Amino acid sequence: TSAVVTIPVVVHVLYNTTAQNVSDAQIQSQIAVLNEDFNKLNADVSKTPSAFAGLAANVGIQFVLAKQTPTGAATTGIERKSTTRTSWGTDDAMKKVSTGGLDAWNSAKYLNLWVCNLSGGVLGYAQFPGGAAATDGVVILSSGFGRNGSAAAPFNLGRTATHEVGHWLNLRHIWGDASCGNDLVSDTPTQQTSNGGCPSFPKVTCSNGPNGDMFMNYMDYTDDACMYMFSNGQSSRMNALFATGGARAGL
Ligand code: ARG
Ligand code: ZN
Ligand code: CA
Repeated sequence: TSAVVTIPVVVHVLYNTTAQNVSDAQIQSQIAVLNEDFNKLNADVSKTPSAFAGLAANVGIQFVLAKQTPTGAATTGIERKSTTRTSWGTDDAMKKVSTGGLDAWNSAKYLNLWVCNLSGGVLGYAQFPGGAAATDGVVILSSGFGRNGSAAAPFNLGRTATHEVGHWLNLRHIWGDASCGNDLVSDTPTQQTSNGGCPSFPKVTCSNGPNGDMFMNYMDYTDDACMYMFSNGQSSRMNALFATGGARAGL
């Protein structure tokens, strides 16, 4: 296990309807989910099949709503903006005041998390480490955010943010975005493609028997209730970013 890293989070809420103006309680529920999932404190980790249980990781990352703005003023870590825009794409418009959104805070010091009404069935998207500072962070659909308020089944347990923060911390999809692709993590079995819904164990693909796909991994596409672990290899890949010279060493 590694030392616990604490990441200040700023939540930028863009809303056109009251439902999109997620409550402080809904935001706090999302922060709680991140803290559970990244510290193996989620109750559902007990559902992990025994074949994979030894691979379930305590990543050791804490998330806290920012208490100071980049200029040192006191903050709740939550910014809200009413907008006439009814939905958003994946072109990062929500990340800049100049395009109707809210600007990122210094991405070397904060996790920027935008909550808005994404169009086209997109639950969320993230920027990998090493990209432009102004667009660094994750974006989450209002109704896929947190686990109360406007969060809607089957994406109402806050796992979209867990998945997107996984990308923000350099994790690839578990199927490697190709048929029997490579996610650059050795302890996640090679699997043919994404899994949706809630598969039954084992699901063998790509000659990965007898245990098959690790479809309960946060980096698959299963329902929130059916994903409950990062692997040790994924944990190492994420934690490497915080070492000296790592892409997120400033946090
Ligand atoms: N489709 C999104 C992505 O690729 C997120 C999927 C999140 N899945 C979930 N069960 N919440 O980044
Ligand atoms: Zn993804
Ligand atoms: Ca793998």
